[in-house]
Amino acid sequence: MCGIIGYIGFRDAYPILVKGLHRLEYRGYDSAGIALSNLSGSLSIYKTKGRVSDLEEYCKDKDISGSIGIAHTRWATHGEPSNTNAHPHYSESENIALIHNGIIENYAVLKQQLIRNGYHFRSNTDTEVLVQLIEYIKVLNNTDLFHAVQLALNEIIGAYAIALIEKGGDNRIIVARKSSPLVIGIGDGEYFIASDASPIVEYTKRVIYLEDEELALVSRGFSPKIVTARNVEKTHEIIQLEMNLSQLEKGGYDHFMLKEIFEQPKTLRDCMKGRIDVTGKHIVLSGVMDNRERFLSARRIIILACGTSWHAGLVGKYFFESFCRIPVEVEYSSEFRYRNPVIYGDDIVIAISQSGETADTLAAIELARKSGSFIYGICNVVGSSISRKTDSGSYTHVGPEIGVASTKAFTAQLTVLSMMALYLGHEKRTIDDERYSFLLGELNRIPDKIEKILQSNAAICDLSKIFTYAHNFIYLGRGFNYPIALEGALKLKEISYIHAEGYPAAEMKHGPIALIDMEMPVVAIATDNVMYDKVMSNIQEIKARNGCVIAVVNESGATIREIADYVIEVPSTEDCFEPLLNIVPLQLLSYHIAVNKKRDVDMPRNLAKSVTVE
Ligand code: G6P
Repeated sequence: MCGIIGYIGFRDAYPILVKGLHRLEYRGYDSAGIALSNLSGSLSIYKTKGRVSDLEEYCKDKDISGSIGIAHTRWATHGEPSNTNAHPHYSESENIALIHNGIIENYAVLKQQLIRNGYHFRSNTDTEVLVQLIEYIKVLNNTDLFHAVQLALNEIIGAYAIALIEKGGDNRIIVARKSSPLVIGIGDGEYFIASDASPIVEYTKRVIYLEDEELALVSRGFSPKIVTARNVEKTHEIIQLEMNLSQLEKGGYDHFMLKEIFEQPKTLRDCMKGRIDVTGKHIVLSGVMDNRERFLSARRIIILACGTSWHAGLVGKYFFESFCRIPVEVEYSSEFRYRNPVIYGDDIVIAISQSGETADTLAAIELARKSGSFIYGICNVVGSSISRKTDSGSYTHVGPEIGVASTKAFTAQLTVLSMMALYLGHEKRTIDDERYSFLLGELNRIPDKIEKILQSNAAICDLSKIFTYAHNFIYLGRGFNYPIALEGALKLKEISYIHAEGYPAAEMKHGPIALIDMEMPVVAIATDNVMYDKVMSNIQEIKARNGCVIAVVNESGATIREIADYVIEVPSTEDCFEPLLNIVPLQLLSYHIAVNKKRDVDMPRNLAKSVTVE
């Protein structure tokens, strides 16, 4: 949510910053801006509503010289997307430029104080309040910018990752973070700062992750000086990035989302690699094995997540309850954190987050920690805040996911959850050896089966054309496939803007069936599992009301083929692994409908990939 990039070194900053903004655009994309400081000591800000490409257009006839700069791509919180509200923001004297990701919660009170002290505001943002406050404190205390930032941050309530430069500000960028991520890339005589490592990796693989409530002074020719808001000096280990550049490119696909859907056979193999041993008989998941006793004696598992990760958590509930007979509650992090929930010391809390930065999930973890429960993270982004705030965890290892609508991260989350539950079920003897090794074998075959589904891409594309102009969709599933109905509907609404609802199929008759007519496509997950006959009855009820049914079926599903208007065939698997297969055609269907509607698939309106505000 909002992308931050900065550069200080010996090269021209502008091309590095613009390229970085393109890489970060998935985090927010309603406006973009850049501040450059050049040799003559000037400080210029260029910013505009729209995409990074609009900013490039705007800068065509501007002076873009300078080897120090900061740049930002915005996801609006305070103030509509506009040229004025775009970052960077100047201070009153225009001597300081600041970019910000996060929310300053006490901005209104501070703004009033600053106005009373003669400060003027151009924008509606909370960010402008912060830069003005910094200047006010700097002047009042007759101190340098770094110290002023330190003092100002002690006055702030909220979340921030910030970067500032100063007019004539002798070669430095000041950065700070609290609850929003910030990475410093260490090059040879140059430094990069960014919200995540994606814009840095092509220049250096050596990075430092700033911790919460830390500030850094990044100067040309010196190692970054890192201190806490209370002025305690810190040193940080330099981390070696494993990411590579090709993971950040579209690789010949039209969109990142399509690339990421097609990557799933590989990403799931990567996710299982080294975790299901070569004999295919054992799961080696060190985070769970190292804490085996805690998991085995858990009174309950609480899963915390948002969005697609929450849907993965729902499937996780089915895994843990059926494989290891541990009761599971799946909570929206945003509700959990404010609900005064009952948490026992012997609960296990599992936080699921692709980005590892979701503000509500971070806050929910903090709350759970107070109760003394053990906290396990399932994250994709290595080194992310959630992965560092949890007691132990498993990475999903799918590489960067750039399309805003999550696809490959979701199937990997399901894979990690299934491995955790299988391992624990086997240890608890709630799954016997024979079933355990059969299920492991089947899990290993999932990537091949996804490959088969991907061969239907052209057929699903053809099918999508029939539904491009539908206004509403209903998605139905039962058992393990109920969360997949929710996720299928979410994928469609996120990227096509078609209204879609997911429901457990039997709940139809308690309300949604009133909506059924010829105009209402119903996507029914009707694969050949223990709920097949029940789902068939639910589909019959829809057909009896002239509904149009698109069914996800197995080869064996003769009856459903007769009843449904359209079918998408997927290979069969064990009931518990069906979510891993059945979501794939739904991802493709949403993708093609969105493309037909000429939507911006990778950057759908109003959304952001990494939600670092609550
Ligand atoms: C945003 C993204 C979703 C994602 C959700 C949770 O809304 O657009 O794709 O599922 O955040 O994100 P997380 O990184 O915690 O999985």
